[in-house]
Amino acid sequence: MSRIFQLFFVLLYMTSCVKGTYTTFCSIMSKMEYITDIAVSTDANQKQGLSNQHFKMINVDLNKGTKGNPVYLWYKKGTTKPITRLQAAFTDEMKSGLTKAGYHHVNGNVNEGNKGDEIYFWYYKGITEYDNPIMDLKVTTSENEEAEYFKMGYEHLACDLNRSARGKYIYLWVKKEKKMFISDITVSTAYGLDERLFNQGYTRVDEDLNRGSDRNASFIWYRRSQSQSGAINDLVLSTNNQTEVDFQLQDYTKVGVNLEEGTKSQPIFVWYKKGSDNPIMSLTVIREISITAFLKPGIVVIKTKLNKGNDQIPLYLAFPNVV
Ligand SMILES: *[C@@H]1O[C@H](CO)[C@@H](O)[C@H](O)[C@H]1NC(C)=O
Ligand SMILES: *[C@@H]1O[C@H](CO)[C@@H](O)[C@H](O)[C@H]1NC(C)=O
Ligand SMILES: *[C@@H]1O[C@H](CO)[C@@H](O)[C@H](O)[C@H]1NC(C)=O
Repeated sequence: MSRIFQLFFVLLYMTSCVKGTYTTFCSIMSKMEYITDIAVSTDANQKQGLSNQHFKMINVDLNKGTKGNPVYLWYKKGTTKPITRLQAAFTDEMKSGLTKAGYHHVNGNVNEGNKGDEIYFWYYKGITEYDNPIMDLKVTTSENEEAEYFKMGYEHLACDLNRSARGKYIYLWVKKEKKMFISDITVSTAYGLDERLFNQGYTRVDEDLNRGSDRNASFIWYRRSQSQSGAINDLVLSTNNQTEVDFQLQDYTKVGVNLEEGTKSQPIFVWYKKGSDNPIMSLTVIREISITAFLKPGIVVIKTKLNKGNDQIPLYLAFPNVV
């Protein structure tokens, strides 16, 4: 009997939503569910507490293999007041701009109890044209999974959640509601700019492009728009005067901040072109060992080592190029 009822409702739902009748019923059934709250548990008590508050847990230990307690990411879904932006901070300096720009600090160090960097999540609930509700979160522990989510349009939090703890890499991926395209790119080499960039709707790619050097951290930022016409659809890196001249002749626009600022390495600059075919939807940095997994149709990896001055953890720019 209940089977028949289920079938009846599924059919009613399908016909009403397709044909546009029973609109109230249809809109109730298809009401969007957003991520509205995020939390981190670093011990069994907190785990129980979050569970009591009806948070849902992503069942991947973010501390796996380390001496620390298991650490988990939790979320709540709802139909109003979605989280629209998510960042991870792995140094104290990274926190100041987030605080000033009104981002909410999530308690719980993701690397609690191990020797890795102290990592915290920060989220924002905004309604500007740059805000895009988060619908889903995924945690990956392998390069192949990473490449798949990237291709599917998930936004990558570039900060390895096991950062400096050594061993495997763990990443968080964010699925957003609206399809948006990168319209602006900038680079920062001083934390003083952070507040303004967050306020202007920029997303920071949370990995230091000077990682491993003792120079200023350098970050790449992007801002997205729903309009496909103003989108960036090509991105290259110049590594010497000759390539700079070439890109200039080919009408690329230069982002005027050297990614290697302060280091002894050759300057590296980002150059881009705009156009509505193959607009770039997201941008991240990946590690050397991920290159093989990311080199597949639908993903571009720029094979220029970013943090050249140091060979510890070579990083590369990557972006999906499918719509
Ligand atoms: C995190 O790093 C530790 C080393 O500190 C490693 O043993 C562990 O496998 C890593 N976590 C995962 C999920 O791979
Ligand atoms: C390096 O960082 C310091 C402190 O944030 C800042 O004052 C300085 O301008 C930065 N240097 C460059 C080249 O951005
Ligand atoms: C390359 O560019 C730099 C900065 O513009 C300049 O100082 C240098 O002389 C150039 N080198 C060559 C070989 O053109």
